Amino acid sequence: MSSSSHDSSTPPAPRGDAVFGTGAGASQDKALFTPGPLTTSATVKAAMLRDLGSRDEAFLDLVRDVRRRLLALAGVPDGASPSAFTALPLQGSGTYGVEAMVTTALPRTGGRLLVLVNGAYGARLAEIARVAAIEVEVLVTPENEAIDPAAVARALAASPATTHVALVHCETTTGILNPLEEVARVVAAAGRSLLVDAMSSFGALAIDLATTPVDWLVSSANKCIEGVPGFCFVLARRSVLETCGPHARSVSLDLFAQWRALEANGQFRFTPPTHAFLAFRQALDELDAEGGREARRARYAANQARIVAGMVALGFQVYLDPAVQSPIITTFRYPEHPAFRFEAFYRGLSERGFAIYPGKLTDAACFRIGSVGHIELPQVEGLLAAVPQVLRELGCELEGGVRS
Ligand SMILES: Cc1ncc(COP(=O)(O)O)c(C=O)c1O
Repeated sequence: MSSSSHDSSTPPAPRGDAVFGTGAGASQDKALFTPGPLTTSATVKAAMLRDLGSRDEAFLDLVRDVRRRLLALAGVPDGASPSAFTALPLQGSGTYGVEAMVTTALPRTGGRLLVLVNGAYGARLAEIARVAAIEVEVLVTPENEAIDPAAVARALAASPATTHVALVHCETTTGILNPLEEVARVVAAAGRSLLVDAMSSFGALAIDLATTPVDWLVSSANKCIEGVPGFCFVLARRSVLETCGPHARSVSLDLFAQWRALEANGQFRFTPPTHAFLAFRQALDELDAEGGREARRARYAANQARIVAGMVALGFQVYLDPAVQSPIITTFRYPEHPAFRFEAFYRGLSERGFAIYPGKLTDAACFRIGSVGHIELPQVEGLLAAVPQVLRELGCELEGGVRS
């Protein structure tokens, strides 16, 4: 729909893409209020304007530096001590990392995985295990409730054959935050090994692997660290990884082999994502410059609080209880208005330079608005100004909604 149909008394909202400025490297793209791919800074994109060879000393130094900095972000040392971890970058999106983690961690025989499911990413993790012919059981929690550590303890007590447990830290399906530390303690007390999908939390939410008993954690480049898509990474406890040599079900997703190659000569086994690595180092520099993980969490939380306040004032309802809501992404219920059509709502916002995201829930009609990536309050204000314009176009005045 063209902007000429807007109410002429309303000044046009700033476009999402306009707020990125006009200087060198300024983006003409939409502001991405999504779970990923996420908006990246112009300087992160510009860092890719080089070609490095996979065996260049400059690239090998880059890989070493990134691996060391990922461990530092998780609060753990490198090296050979029992508490040591290693950072294993791997080509591909986050799911490749989840699949690599599961199929490297679980033995070919004698392993059994308990997956804690309260959303689509937990369900996908269980599917990955099934496809790999891993014995798997699921503990299903409603999508609007956080995983209950006491229920995990009971499930483990009832299942002595379970060797490993998998948890999604921030379940991006809804934006719910699961209690990582409490679950980790329960799993450790039961003598099992914990795998964590921290895809949409690592880099922004507190995760201290020095004090939280986790053996494996996976995340990816284009989430809270705000690099570009292209690789994922697994942080693995060295003493555990050392025992995983015979586990691989796949050549390319074998993290043990990836580790051996990286330790032997610093190289990836197959064509490395050199440009994504250059962008990632710049993204890590920008994370440091912003003030580190806590400052990033605070920016995301400020974005999210403003999105929620603005959308509620416009008449929308948040799906989750605030007690379990993460600052990463927020799920909103479709308004109960006969004229509301998500596709048209999405299109109207997209035409104004803002990308939101459909819902992924099994039991409620919802859409999602992310608060992560290189997004700040001016873009949020632009989105919130565009929403009532689009609602008006749809003929969808919401009850209780403030008109602007
Ligand atoms: C918690 C979680 N796990 C796994 C994934 C899958 O990552 P990808 O889509 O990069 O494969 C995502 C993607 O958003 C996620 O949020």
